[in-house]
Amino acid sequence: MKGIILSGGYGTRLLPLTKVTSKQLLPVYDKPMIMYPLEILLKAGIKDILIIVAPDHAGDYLRLLGSGKEFGVRFAYEIQDKPEGLATAFLIGENFIDDDNVTMILGDNIFEDDVAGTIRNFKSGGHIFAKEVPDPERFGVVKFDDQMNAMKIEEKPKEHLSNYAITGLYIYDSRVVEAAKQAKPSARGELEITELHNWYLAKQELKVDILKGEWIDAGTFETLFRASELKRKKSQISNK
Ligand code: DAU
Repeated sequence: MKGIILSGGYGTRLLPLTKVTSKQLLPVYDKPMIMYPLEILLKAGIKDILIIVAPDHAGDYLRLLGSGKEFGVRFAYEIQDKPEGLATAFLIGENFIDDDNVTMILGDNIFEDDVAGTIRNFKSGGHIFAKEVPDPERFGVVKFDDQMNAMKIEEKPKEHLSNYAITGLYIYDSRVVEAAKQAKPSARGELEITELHNWYLAKQELKVDILKGEWIDAGTFETLFRASELKRKKSQISNK
């Protein structure tokens, strides 16, 4: 299993905080944001991790994270020139992924659940995670049937589909590169990750689990603040 942390983009919703730094390097309680998704990959025992960053901040990531030696793993870095969609990570990472399975996590997503076992036990297909949210229109959304099998996934649906958002943690086999090559840009001009989910869903090879703990996409002032609160609470509990 390889790992990818997608940590590019402009972070415009967090201006002026992101004027001189990358969103995923902003503090979440006591650490730069990216350390949390990194910890998830480390806990799952992933040894090869590709960090995809925006051109302006590559040096900062290298200074913060280095070669990976400190964490007992290997880091590789790639630059994403423009944020042209989450699915482009698998094109950028094609050689890195090679014939292996891959777990991709977004550098601004904070998870409370322990998914290490799921990542370790993954065999093939696609495995993604949903969470019930009050504002599903901001995300990719999944509709389930009565047995909680995924029926349909849409990116930011205009009509209400369900309250289950697809979170930024994706486990795929190496065919994801092929799926990304077949994807076409959406109306907003991006290669959408949702197309990749649907590629696996059409083959009946997509599993969608529901997360039990909190999940925060820390891309707004409000959610960035909530992410710090969650991590502060967790650290107080573990210090007791
Ligand atoms: O947070 C989960 C959601 O992330 C999913 O529910 C959606 O299906 C998925 O499309 C994505 O939606 P967002 O609208 O939140 O995507 P956003 O453009 O905000 O990008 C998410 C993160 O990925 C953000 O930290 C910036 C980074 N990014 C984004 C793009 C498009 C990149 O590094 N490169 C990119 O090309």
